[in-house]
Amino acid sequence: LNRIPLVAGNWKMNFDHREATYFVQKLAWLLRDAKFDHKRCEVALFPSFTSIRSVQVLVEADHLRIRYGAQSVSVTSQGAFTGDVSADMLAHLGCSYVIVGHSERRKYHPEDDANIVDQVRAVLAAGMQPILCVGESFEERRQGIELDFAVGQVNDVTRDLSDEEASKLIVAYEPVWAIGTGMVATPQSAQDAARAIRDHMQAQFGAATAQSVRILYGGSVTSHNAVQLITQPDVDGFLIGGASLDPEELALIARLT
Ligand code: G3H
Repeated sequence: LNRIPLVAGNWKMNFDHREATYFVQKLAWLLRDAKFDHKRCEVALFPSFTSIRSVQVLVEADHLRIRYGAQSVSVTSQGAFTGDVSADMLAHLGCSYVIVGHSERRKYHPEDDANIVDQVRAVLAAGMQPILCVGESFEERRQGIELDFAVGQVNDVTRDLSDEEASKLIVAYEPVWAIGTGMVATPQSAQDAARAIRDHMQAQFGAATAQSVRILYGGSVTSHNAVQLITQPDVDGFLIGGASLDPEELALIARLT
């Protein structure tokens, strides 16, 4: 397998630019101290728009191998869209990734399937990689349709993508009931969902693309459950919310991944 695991810290609406600077310095120190091998596992941070530039300055000044990205993006490239941030603006800040379709964005903002496809396209066109978030709510799990639901959300995006576009996609399986609740999915159900998503990619784009696409798990990941999750064959890393706000915890999860 040539899929390098990705440990992605989604800070959500936390940390102003001074706190972000302090965090990055501390994380870099912890990783250096632990002789962390960045070739074995990627670490990426997802600050608020207002903190991305501060992260960029530090990463460039200290030649850090920490990557970073944004939590959302506009679907348009420029113009009269008050409050929006374009993919090119993010790319010019050195962003590698953009989270697209996080359940909090789907819930609190008008981000429907069409908008999410357009975000994915905008991210790809700007030379970055989208991290597409999917996952069922408690109700779908209760009905036993969680795999179909998550794969359906992936398909809503992938049916419009070319093979080349699909090969750059990263998928994060995040069951909504597991986000911020302390109720982590079992390793087996994380594996089942990741496998179902990979099978879908294989059916649509072939084995080479399916085997290269990284599939992350997200939802109450901590250093206590990371090892059991990452040892699942189709789980290629994590999208971490709460635990990513503590540099020690994030560095520990990265070391365990
Ligand atoms: O993007 C991250 C997810 O929403 C997971 O959040 O780790 O706080 O459960 P959490």
